[in-house]
Amino acid sequence: MTPVPRAALDEVPLYVPKPPVARAEGVSHRLFLNENPYAPLPSVLAEISRAALTAHHYPEIVPGELVAALAARLGVPESDVVTGPGSVGIYQQVAQAILEPGDEVVYAWPSFEAFPIVARIAGARPVPVPLRDGVHDLAAIADRVTPRTRAVFLCDPNNPTGTSVDADGLSAFLSAVPESVLVVLDEAYREYSTSAVDGVELYREYPNVVALRTFSKAYGLAGLRVGYGVARPAISAALRKCAVPCGVGGIGVRAALASLAAEPELSERVATLKADRDALRAALVERGVPVPPSDTNFLWLPLESRADEVAAVLERAGLLTRLYPGVGIRLTVGTAEANAAVVGVLETVFAAA
Ligand SMILES: Cc1ncc(COP(=O)(O)O)c(C=O)c1O
Repeated sequence: MTPVPRAALDEVPLYVPKPPVARAEGVSHRLFLNENPYAPLPSVLAEISRAALTAHHYPEIVPGELVAALAARLGVPESDVVTGPGSVGIYQQVAQAILEPGDEVVYAWPSFEAFPIVARIAGARPVPVPLRDGVHDLAAIADRVTPRTRAVFLCDPNNPTGTSVDADGLSAFLSAVPESVLVVLDEAYREYSTSAVDGVELYREYPNVVALRTFSKAYGLAGLRVGYGVARPAISAALRKCAVPCGVGGIGVRAALASLAAEPELSERVATLKADRDALRAALVERGVPVPPSDTNFLWLPLESRADEVAAVLERAGLLTRLYPGVGIRLTVGTAEANAAVVGVLETVFAAA
């Protein structure tokens, strides 16, 4: 008899790689992963090239220089900084460090699609709580916290709806949730927000908060897999114990450090993308496409029954978006060319409607 995987994995979806056309450069616009449309800055590329010459060396088990730089920048002790191969890697550390089989993990839905997967891999029970008008319903989430709840995952701003929670509401929520419940605040898109709360401030105030951030989105380093978080020492130590040794590659570390040094230039890029996002939304709304305001680098089109058909039309035009069947389309803000193409296609679709 062959080895039998854990039964908990039966409900975990198996990722099947996409056909090459979806990945080919130039064939299409990749608007389905909320990537940055810009290649790394010249100063970051130069550092990547230099670091590539040492690719035959292992990186450090934990990237000490990056941890020190992040700690200094955030004003937190180095012991409280956690790193991982993307922030999604830190979720795996959370699953291993915190969750026991049978525990419950509460989160809003739709939200980051890793949430139920992380819970299930640990044998925990996912407890999704519907968004209210596209926003986290913190009161309903608090109601679903029971003695079995071990963690709450909050995505702020939320993927896929692009909405942020209200700061007072979140403080009230954090005060109401027992301190024994870990609250993971995923801030992958916070740099694009004008109103998102500051998870690092919340970690200072509430001992059960882990704030997760990433170099993948605003910093444009998704391909190098560098994520980080801050948590109080008892939690951060547990998360570090569960990290894959050398999980953050040496090139990623150098690129992340160079990006921190290039913050003013990167902030300009973020400001441009925010302006592009707002202009794209305005152009779509003008053409009758329902698009709520976004605090992120993507737009949410709650097209419900029309979503599948519209995503297919966009795809035929080389605009690859993320479809939530029967619910909506998530569309990353891209280059000027991609955004103009989106407007062109949707103008035709909605004029015909
Ligand atoms: C909410 C959220 N968190 C985390 C991630 C993953 O980021 P990383 O590249 O740091 O693993 C994503 C990626 O789309 C995301 O949307």
